[in-house]
Amino acid sequence: MCGIIGRVGDGDAIDTLLTGLENLEYRGYDSAGVAVQNGAGIKVQKRSGKVQELKNSINGAPLEGRVGIGHTRWSTHGPPTDENAHPHTDSTADVAVVHNGIIENYATLKTQLREQGHEFTSDTDTEVIPHLIQQYLDEDMENEAAFRRAIERLEGSYAVAVMFSGEHVIYAARQGSPLVVGIEDDEFFLASDVPAFLEYTDSVVYLEDGDVAIVEPDGVEFTDLDGNAIVREPETVDWDPEQAGKGEYDHFMLKEIYEQPTSLSQAIEGRIDPETGSIDLDGFPAGTFEGVDSVQFVACGTSYHAALYGSLTLTQAGVQSTALLANEYSVSAPPVDENTLVIAVTQSGETADTLSALRKASENGAQTVTVTNVVGSTASREADDTLLIRAGPEIGVAATKTFSSQAVMLTLLGQRITADVRGEESVGDLSPLLSDLERMPDQIESVLERSAAREIAEEYDGSQSYFFIGRGLGFPVALEGALKFKEITYEHAEGFASGELKHGPLALVTPDTPVFAVFTGVEDEKTLKNAEEAQTRGAPVIAVCPEGHPATDIADAHLEIPEADSDLAGLLANVQLQLVSYYAADLLDRPIDKPRNLAKSVTVE
Ligand code: F6R
Repeated sequence: MCGIIGRVGDGDAIDTLLTGLENLEYRGYDSAGVAVQNGAGIKVQKRSGKVQELKNSINGAPLEGRVGIGHTRWSTHGPPTDENAHPHTDSTADVAVVHNGIIENYATLKTQLREQGHEFTSDTDTEVIPHLIQQYLDEDMENEAAFRRAIERLEGSYAVAVMFSGEHVIYAARQGSPLVVGIEDDEFFLASDVPAFLEYTDSVVYLEDGDVAIVEPDGVEFTDLDGNAIVREPETVDWDPEQAGKGEYDHFMLKEIYEQPTSLSQAIEGRIDPETGSIDLDGFPAGTFEGVDSVQFVACGTSYHAALYGSLTLTQAGVQSTALLANEYSVSAPPVDENTLVIAVTQSGETADTLSALRKASENGAQTVTVTNVVGSTASREADDTLLIRAGPEIGVAATKTFSSQAVMLTLLGQRITADVRGEESVGDLSPLLSDLERMPDQIESVLERSAAREIAEEYDGSQSYFFIGRGLGFPVALEGALKFKEITYEHAEGFASGELKHGPLALVTPDTPVFAVFTGVEDEKTLKNAEEAQTRGAPVIAVCPEGHPATDIADAHLEIPEADSDLAGLLANVQLQLVSYYAADLLDRPIDKPRNLAKSVTVE
């Protein structure tokens, strides 16, 4: 993870670099730094802590330069100190480098370079890159050749941007970590992700593994690592900068929770027709999954919960399906063959664990699909097919709107898969489900308008632990409710299948452990019994269910959701739970958009 920004153009680069770093802070916020190129050579400024710390330090000693690179870090090698912050330079400070990824052979390279007299000032793997480049410069290579030669020596994953003293050029290379180029008349950008420069341009080129981009004042040259020219056409992104900003909200997370009616409308637009009961997923016509006899979902964290949601809908429809944690896949992947469909669910499309599972599935001959939010992401390029969830940029580290869009798109994709597995044109009459789906954005709107989440967060503030239970499709929602809660409040929270409570976790239940019970309309009477079992042991029960539901008669508190198809009710409940987590974290004054130790895009295994 980590975020990279680069800028080449007229006028000063520093404001653009700092804005870009702020826009990328969701990728890591342990330290930040910039390097700019001016008449006097390269000037580097870096600080541990958030971008604001860097800005404060620059205010005291302004930096100037038309060309610059910047970095915001999520630490892997070495603690978050000033020394370990990027950019890193060689000992002459003629080469500055920012890097995202892991250099697997850095220890070997560092030993060799040390033997040749190079002195290192940080614990990072990155620092070997400027020293390697310097080594080749010392051998009389030109800047570009030294850059290429150094990159060739790297093993592992990287997105790298390099500047040389005295040259208004940025050299960049990508292998396994994302890198995009932004193009706007006579200004050019380089970044880990599009929101970094979205306020300046919507014209982007997604680099592929093995690509090199040489960004100069009069244009960008794309080549492979050997220097052969390659064609990379710019694409227009349809995210507007407004969407990527916080607007009137205190936090991106709250904004993104409130964006769910819009993001879901975008997700389903043109893809469903409730009148005819038809689903039209671009690129997935009837028969796409002919011959498939089983489905495996691979994903991590919140995306895993969405994957579990998708997998359960398939299982309920009679299709053999399982959801697997991508980080466990390398050691416990069930067998696959050409009749197995493996679906990678990943908001960012860059999660290393998920990519590794996807690659393993492909190598073993499975058909693969990526369900993602990011056009051109690695997972999308590596899978046979991609289904976009169209949620728009999600900046808050805690995933919210992407979860609901993932779950909905997996529900729709599940219908296509089920029909194909059964050898039918479509699965029965889908009109009722699709009508409910069409109503969902309005239903979420009404949840958002009337939610008692803030009062409930206040009521149970300071509890010892928070439990979330659900059955069937309510189970992934319970898991997601607990993940969100622990992630942003730092309080202990656990999600359980309702029926599992009595098999052990009930021992933890006390009057100080509120239990949030999710009711989706399937075997609710059993979930109600499980909730009562907790209540009998003194735990307050908060029922997440429609008005008039039997659970409201016994519950200590109620989070209301509209009546909905049982395939979708859990997603309405999830919105309530997102709000509870948000308000609970706000009461505790947590840094909601950037929880400690986390980052949005986890590009290490
Ligand atoms: C939690 C969260 C993470 C991600 C996980 C996978 O709120 O956001 O658990 O869901 O790191 O990320 P993606 O979906 O990008 O593969």
